[in-house]
Amino acid sequence: MTNTPPPAEQADPEQADPEQADPEQADPEQAVAGRANAVQAAREEALTDEVLASFAGTESGRTQELLEALTRHLHAFVRETRLTEAEWAVGIGFLTRCGEITDAKRQEFILLSDVLGVSMQTITVNNETVRSQSGSNEMATEATEATVVGPFFVEGSPEVPIGGDVAGGAAGEPCWVAGTVTDTSGNPVPGARIEVWEADEEGLYDVQYGDDRVAARAHLFSDEAGRYAFWGVRPTPYPIPDDGPVGDLLKATRRSPMRASHLHFMVSAEGLHTLATHIFVRECEFLTRDSVFGVKQSLVKDFVRQPPGTPGPDGRLLDGPWSRTEFDIILAPER
Ligand code: BEZ
Ligand code: FE
Repeated sequence: MTNTPPPAEQADPEQADPEQADPEQADPEQAVAGRANAVQAAREEALTDEVLASFAGTESGRTQELLEALTRHLHAFVRETRLTEAEWAVGIGFLTRCGEITDAKRQEFILLSDVLGVSMQTITVNNETVRSQSGSNEMATEATEATVVGPFFVEGSPEVPIGGDVAGGAAGEPCWVAGTVTDTSGNPVPGARIEVWEADEEGLYDVQYGDDRVAARAHLFSDEAGRYAFWGVRPTPYPIPDDGPVGDLLKATRRSPMRASHLHFMVSAEGLHTLATHIFVRECEFLTRDSVFGVKQSLVKDFVRQPPGTPGPDGRLLDGPWSRTEFDIILAPER
């Protein structure tokens, strides 16, 4: 219980203790502190207002809105945490190191956005899975959830036919991936462009080998019934680049740099919202601590191991064990 006096209009004058009724008389020291706090808060608010007003002439209304919101949130962060000048200097040093390590191949700021969940929040805001049907109270079928694109997508991947080999020599256990592409009304989407890319069994993408190889990435198109299928490799977990400041942040916070085992998809079709997503392996130990918060339960799939000697769905004879999984993709309408 606090000993805050009741508001004046509720106080019973008969019962009131005059010393308790007036906090200034009750505790003059507390009253002075309260006034000092109010003066300080007013100074801090005035500074925020001054910065907000400085954006009044911004040409683009949207830029102004973003700068104002950023200012409000940054100032609130400084005020809420009572950020010290030494702490702010550490923050500036961290951002400086992010800039120093960033080049055409390494983007530490995107990595920072990823590990802070800002990338995933931006994706979540921009990829609503459920929308009411216009002119109706019905909800359309949920579209497939989106997740991070990551730094390893490369334009210009080779095309493979349906049932073709995406692995392209990448090491790993063969994995048959099949499904359909539909819209949120359940109509098949023929001719959808399906880009897939993944790491090999060492947890490395082709571009990380630095020898111009193209492997474990390709694109294919869905057939008349929206169906697709391909051979890839069973995904394995791998760490995000953690030899820079973002890695230091992960270490300082005792967080793992590992990404849960996944296979990337980017699916596009005329009139529909392009979907960038992954599917994840249900048994992966990192599902609950993916370093970039990319895991969505709806994207976790059974990658069912087939005993050696089992022929593939396309009749292919394989030497060793292989896996198969299914992934039906539902594309949201273009907005
Ligand atoms: C990836 O899945 O390829 C990835 C995503 C975010 C950061 C690093 C890698
Ligand atoms: Fe990845």
